[in-house]
Amino acid sequence: MSSTDQAAIEKRRGAFSSRNVFIFAAIGSAVGLGNIWRFPMEAYENGGGAFLLPYLIALLTAGIPFLLLDYVMGHRTRGSAPLAFARTHRKTEWLGWWQVGICFVIALYYAAILAWALRYTLFSADKGWGDDPNAFFGGEFLQASDPTKGISTEFVIGLLVPLVIVWLAVIVIMMLGVQKGVGNTAMIFIPVLILAFLALVIRSLFLPGAADGLNALFTPDWSALTDTGVWAAAYSQIFFSLSIGFGIMITYASYVGRKVDMTGSGLVVGFANSSFELLCGIGVFSALGFMAQAQGVAINEVASGGPGLAFVAFPTIINEAPAGVVIGLLFFASLILAGITSLVSILEVVISAIRDKFEMSRIGATMAVCIPAAAISVFFFSTKSALHVLDIADNFINKFGILFVAVVSMVVLVWIVRALPDFVEHLTTHGSVPIRGWWPALIAVVTPLALTFVLISDFVDTIKEPYGGYPTWMIATFGWGVVAAVIFGGVAASLVKWRPETSLDIPGPIDEGTAPIKEENR
Ligand code: ALA
Repeated sequence: MSSTDQAAIEKRRGAFSSRNVFIFAAIGSAVGLGNIWRFPMEAYENGGGAFLLPYLIALLTAGIPFLLLDYVMGHRTRGSAPLAFARTHRKTEWLGWWQVGICFVIALYYAAILAWALRYTLFSADKGWGDDPNAFFGGEFLQASDPTKGISTEFVIGLLVPLVIVWLAVIVIMMLGVQKGVGNTAMIFIPVLILAFLALVIRSLFLPGAADGLNALFTPDWSALTDTGVWAAAYSQIFFSLSIGFGIMITYASYVGRKVDMTGSGLVVGFANSSFELLCGIGVFSALGFMAQAQGVAINEVASGGPGLAFVAFPTIINEAPAGVVIGLLFFASLILAGITSLVSILEVVISAIRDKFEMSRIGATMAVCIPAAAISVFFFSTKSALHVLDIADNFINKFGILFVAVVSMVVLVWIVRALPDFVEHLTTHGSVPIRGWWPALIAVVTPLALTFVLISDFVDTIKEPYGGYPTWMIATFGWGVVAAVIFGGVAASLVKWRPETSLDIPGPIDEGTAPIKEENR
């Protein structure tokens, strides 16, 4: 293929206009619900201050190495996840579709959480959750049904309307394309998010009881380091939080100019995400310290993660804190800003894959992906069963989706198709950080072994006790069923032929000139 043809293809696919936009978009993807509501609780439950050690080791031995693997896959092949795998080796395309399937599932419930945050932003103006936020969340708000009585198909209008709004908003962003949609959203949302969250942290630090909260979070329980579950938690946290292993960073790296320093960018993104995560721990636990003091109870009675933190603990804090409305607006706005830039990245994986495979226009692919996704998301997550389905799907797709595909991808790429020497060459030519020696050793041996250990540990725990005490049929359907469906779906999608105009060869260099590639939204 000539250099001109290739430039035309890249123009059509879209690109970030500069390295900064790429870095902002990648940080926007990484910083999300995983940082704000998952990290603080994971740290607290897994040894407090002592958790920071496995967390740092997981970041250095798996997080950053895998981020660079995702980067080299996308940057070298200039394709979405399935195209990147197919161009690396024809027979590995299914791994890319497996990752696309994982993103599709995550997008369905991620949008629902953002919809709840949207409603709660409004509630925080007049404390619309009343005096008992716990009863309000499960009762009046979610109207949660009893999971043992089966799946409810009764819609809750208060969940449906914000969910439709979230989907409409992201559809508009996705239609705008890589630079104007994904890139510009990150360039605007990330600075605002940092300011809003810093303001929240400063406000929380000055609440009475904040020091007790920080002590609870950071007092190390060194005995936790002998618990294998703590190490498993650290590795799982890194993968979801850094958006690695599910196609996002492959896709984003495929939109980056060829001369960009990929290894330097990886370090910036990895450390920025973890710094924000630490800030989240400080902000959240200062606020929980206040709540515990105000209610005269121990921190462990108020600490919670996930929905319990955002939609029960924070509303309680807002009810009791001086100028609680400000805390509420800052907290829920932060959740939405962080969440939108992550949801956009999750959807981009699917849209980019469909565009590459079927040579579809940007708008056509956005509609082909987002309309069915929005319909399924609304169907499952605006009914009275929303919370249960979300909880199960999230737990299983994280553990047996992301981590599983990550291990299989590494083993296949390194040991079966033997692509590592080419990857090392590419990262050395396109990076400022020397990676020879340490990076191949981590990706070939240490990271796969660490993840295999985590997977086995998670699998044994899950088999021992049904997750969350849900009925077996629910776990089989929304847990194992979803995990299996994305694998089989991935294999099936890889059997569909590429269009004759799509080359499965690694693209050669193109004459980029001095101007960055400008996207054409065709
Ligand atoms: N990395 C994103 C998050 O943390 C998906 O929520």
